[in-house]
This record gives sequence, structure tokens and C-alpha cells, in this order.
Amino acid sequence: MIGPTGGSGTPEARIEQAMRRALAASAQVHGSTSPNPPVGCVVLDAAGEIAGVGATAPPGGPHAEIVALHEAGPRAAGGTAVVTLEPCAHVGRTPPCTDALIAAGIVAVHAALPDPNPLAAGGAAELRDAGVAVTLGTLADEVARGPLRAWLHAVRTHRPHVTWKLAATLDGRSAAADGTSRWITGPDAREQVHALRSTMDAIVVGTGTALADDPALTARNPDGTEQARQPLRVVVGCRDLVAGSKLDAPDVLHVRSHDPDVVLGALRERGAVDVLLEGGPRLAGAFLAAGRVDRVLAYLAPALLGAGPAALAEAGVGTIGDIRRLQIDDVCRIGTDVLVDARPVAEQQEKGTA
Ligand SMILES: NC(=O)c1ccc[n+]([C@@H]2O[C@H](COP(=O)([O-])OP(=O)(O)OC[C@H]3O[C@@H](n4cnc5c(N)ncnc54)[C@H](OP(=O)(O)O)[C@@H]3O)[C@@H](O)[C@H]2O)c1
Repeated sequence: MIGPTGGSGTPEARIEQAMRRALAASAQVHGSTSPNPPVGCVVLDAAGEIAGVGATAPPGGPHAEIVALHEAGPRAAGGTAVVTLEPCAHVGRTPPCTDALIAAGIVAVHAALPDPNPLAAGGAAELRDAGVAVTLGTLADEVARGPLRAWLHAVRTHRPHVTWKLAATLDGRSAAADGTSRWITGPDAREQVHALRSTMDAIVVGTGTALADDPALTARNPDGTEQARQPLRVVVGCRDLVAGSKLDAPDVLHVRSHDPDVVLGALRERGAVDVLLEGGPRLAGAFLAAGRVDRVLAYLAPALLGAGPAALAEAGVGTIGDIRRLQIDDVCRIGTDVLVDARPVAEQQEKGTA
């Protein structure tokens, strides 16, 4: 339990600080844990000082709580575990985290979110039965919007979470009249997209983009070198790719279908939870029309083209009453550009899935 002299601020503020630290730890492993959730954990000693920080290891490796307990060592006794997801109570590829927390002498657990996975749930009850004080809900909204978002969605819907990323001018165009499209946004936005790619399980484009742009779809560092972790590259459409093009590679998944659910089914089979849809306009329109876009990241460049293809093609909207409304989660400046982070309004998303 947090002692009266440990840390700074009120006990609640110290727990929130620790939860933000746990969230930051989970962000470090975002993209390396699927199909497991990217969880973060901070163990505070009895005086309320940080004794251990951990995050989920790749599948088969230890969960966040075990990593944090290991770092804390004997300082965990009488301490508090602050964790982004309710500790698991089941034997999967690793033993239950609840047992480890109890064995280490943890006396209080603060978890942001309950575990929605029926197989792993029940951790809070098991801890309480062992006399551990459990609080659920610390910074729940903030954590739910963080690295756990896609995993939570996949548990709920049995589908990977789809983020559609687009780059457009202020007049909504994604390429010039002659089809050229590099580069609409500035270097800062492009660098951020490479960082985003490295947190994803898969990157998806249509054959139209593959044939027009010959993209590599790799996550690269600012110096052009490839990042250590690369997502699965996926092309969707019936046409063959050009022999020798960058996506004509054995590790690229080519899904010859026009049905977004066939694409998502194939990705789920490969353990993908977090999917980045990079277009182009027709494939994005098909995913939107099917209600299969869960997040929109729109990089808007302060530039105008006046002609050329729009960022989005046919999306099942024929009349203004069917307009696809989004709710904005965040707006920020990225170098010279603006990033709008939005999600479809919930009832419309359900309508699209009908
Ligand atoms: N600015 C941006 O953010 C951005 C991002 C990506 C691309 N782009 C630009 O977009 C242009 C390419 O546009 P695009 O629309 O042709 O690319 P696209 O959406 O990547 O590819 C279109 C192809 O996707 C396949 N497809 C799969 N499911 C579909 C469905 N349900 N409905 C329709 N098609 C489906 C079809 O392939 P098959 O015909 O082979 O079956 C179709 O021809 C390029 O100029 C590229 O530079 C811009």
C-alpha cells in the first residue's frame, strides 16, 4: 500500500502518475505482443516509490506484471501493482499473473480496465479472495484510447481493429490530376507514419496503390534504414502485381477478394489485431461502406490541388442523409501539417455492418 510519505501529491495522484508510467511502458511494446494485449505495469514499494516497471513481452514471454515484479524483487512485498489491464487469472502460455502478485506480497492492485476476455477474466475476484485490495477504473478512458485499443476491439468484435490513414490536401485530394502523389505531407508527418507502421501488425493497400506507386510499405527510420520490427504487408485485389515490384515478395500476403471481411478474416488467422489501411481511395471506400474502419488518421497538408483523385472513393453514400459522420478524438500539428484523429460515430458504424 502507498505509505503517507512516499512519492509526491495525494495517493490518488501518485497512482495516476504510476498508471501513466505503465501506459508509457505499454506504448514501448505496442506492435510486438499480438495476439496478446500490450499491457504496462508499475510496481510501487510499500513507501510508494517505483520499484519495477514492465510491459508485455512477445508471445510466449512474460506478462507485464511478471516483468515489473522481477525488477522490483523483494521491494514488491507490501507494495502496490498499477497495471493497465486486470491481471489474468488463467494458465495460458504463461502461469497466472494473479498467483505471482500474491506470492510477491502485493497488497493492492489498481487496474485501469477489466479484462474483457472471458478466458482470462476473474483476476480481480481472485486477488480479492486472497486479501488484495483491488481498484478497477483508474484512468480507464485514457488507457482505453492507448495501445490496448485495438486488442479491446478485437476481443469484443472478433475482428482486427482497422485504422485508415490518409494524406490529403486541404481540398481533400490524395494525388494530382496526372496521378502523382509524392509527397503531399511534410517530413514530420511521414516520419510519424513510419513510427505508426512499426506499431501495427499489418499494413494494407489495394492493387491500385501497389501498381501506381510501387510502395515498399516498410517501417523505416529517418535515415531510410528499416526498423527492427516490420508489420505484415498486405495487398488486396484480383489483379497480379508487376513481377519484380517491391510488393511482389514471398512475405507479402495478396488477398484476391473485394470483401473487407475476407481480408480481415485472413489477417485474424495470422494473429493480426491492429491493422493499418493505407488506401487507396477505392479500398478505403469499400472498408468504410462495410463499417470496417474503426479509426481515421487524416494527415492534412496546407496545400491545394484543385484536380485529381479524392482521398476517398465510393463509400456507400448516395445522399446527404447517409453522410458518414466522425467524432474527433484529437487534432494536432505535425510539422507543417495537421493530424485529425477521429472515429466513426458508433450507430453509423453498426449501420455499415448490416
Ligand atoms: N494520399 C493517400 O493517402 C493515398 C494512399 C494510398 C493511395 N493513394 C493514391 O491512390 C491511387 C490509387 O487509387 P486506387 O483507388 O486505384 O487504389 P486502391 O484503393 O489501393 O486499389 C484499388 C483496387 O483495390 C481492389 N479492391 C479490393 N477490394 C475492393 C472493393 N471492395 N472495391 C473496389 N476495389 C477493391 C481492386 O483491385 P482489382 O481491380 O485488382 O481487383 C481495385 O482496383 C494512387 O495514385 C495512389 O498514389 C493515395
